[in-house]
Amino acid sequence: MEKDTIEEANNNLENGQSKAQQEEGVYLASETENPENKNKETQDTNENEDQNDINYKNLLNYDPKMKIEILDNKIGDKYDINFKIIVIGNSGVGKSSLTIKATTGIFKEEFSSTLGFQFFSFHVKINDKVIKLQIWDTCGQEIYRSLITNFYRSSALALICYSVNDIKSFEEIEIWLKQVKMNSDPDCKVFLIANKIDLPDRVVTTEKGIEYKKEHDFECYMETSAKTGVNVKELFVNCALALYKELPKYIKEREILENERKHNQFNLNDEGIKPEESDCAC
Ligand code: GTP
Ligand code: MG
Repeated sequence: MEKDTIEEANNNLENGQSKAQQEEGVYLASETENPENKNKETQDTNENEDQNDINYKNLLNYDPKMKIEILDNKIGDKYDINFKIIVIGNSGVGKSSLTIKATTGIFKEEFSSTLGFQFFSFHVKINDKVIKLQIWDTCGQEIYRSLITNFYRSSALALICYSVNDIKSFEEIEIWLKQVKMNSDPDCKVFLIANKIDLPDRVVTTEKGIEYKKEHDFECYMETSAKTGVNVKELFVNCALALYKELPKYIKEREILENERKHNQFNLNDEGIKPEESDCAC
């Protein structure tokens, strides 16, 4: 190979991750793996956001004019709109760890497999709208797979997770994707999440992950570590941002449903019979 070509190839290799990062929907963590750098990076580029402690470069279609605030979960039911998010993928890939880290800041080394599913909530304020993510963390064990298909319904977004040191969890994404297509609403968005990037024995490369994302048209590919916290809050803020884009559509749909519900309530008595159909003489 010519000297220039080798240099160019080396440069490309060095810049590879940041170039890929610029591609739509690909959010790597190489430059921010150290939480100290994470803060350093945000200092130069953003004005409104120190309290969130996140890397704004890794946010989906981030516009610096946007105000983003991660809210305390104690906010409870004071939100404008809520969305159901389902977290799926093989057992042990770190679904619960990611969810628990994002919502409580805690990471546990010991493995305790989820039984069935568990709920968490994560609130993000984007501009003037408070979005509640109702996160359904499911069990990845094979014996429960058919059981959890009932939970997919009315999910606005599915997070399909794999672990970068577990090739089987990557190969079986296909199964999870099929489950989403078969059991979710057609407009359910899907993110591909490559977790455990802190581990040294990585077998699924970034390139493979990005390729898979492109081939199967995922909305977004993110590399995360529930252990170090890299890209964890960013992941859930990105869920809120992806859904925020569709807010007018969702608000309209919910208004229609609410109006239908009120209309039916008005027209039906307690037995579900329209007043004119009932035997009551009054
Ligand atoms: P199921 O509930 O059985 O479906 O598994 P899960 O996907 O919820 O996995 P869980 O979050 O329970 O994590 C499994 C194991 O991986 C635990 O021992 C975690 O400590 C560990 N783990 C999770 N995420 C990470 C990570 O990012 N890095 C490292 N090093 N370990 C992780
Ligand atoms: Mg779990």
